[in-house]
Amino acid sequence: MIGKLNHVAIAVPDLEAASAQYRDTLGAKVGAPQDEPDHGVTVVFIELPNTKVELLHPLGEASPIRGFLDKNPSGGIHHICYEVEDILAARDKLQATGARVLGDGEPKIGAHGKPVLFLHPKDFTGTLVELEQV
Ligand code: CO
Repeated sequence: MIGKLNHVAIAVPDLEAASAQYRDTLGAKVGAPQDEPDHGVTVVFIELPNTKVELLHPLGEASPIRGFLDKNPSGGIHHICYEVEDILAARDKLQATGARVLGDGEPKIGAHGKPVLFLHPKDFTGTLVELEQV
């Protein structure tokens, strides 16, 4: 059902420092910060030959990653995103197995302008999983 690894998202306390590290130390292609007010994050996209890394930083007081950074002050892997062809079919199949979809269960438009859903980390070996329809 799942296809390519679309991205790995890393929550970071200092977006500037993390961007500089990926650009200057690791030699990656690092984009400019983009505010995503609907998702409560500022994102920096890092393009790798086979996938992407997204650096996430809280935007606004109600940011969904603020609690994560409180627990992981130096930052950490926040979620991984897999591509699916049909997000509603994927959701229905997963829910039928008892997996929990976060929020109201309806796909939202993600940072790439495509429908996304998040799956409960306790149902997926401690990892927050994002599904993105491609
Ligand atoms: Co993501």
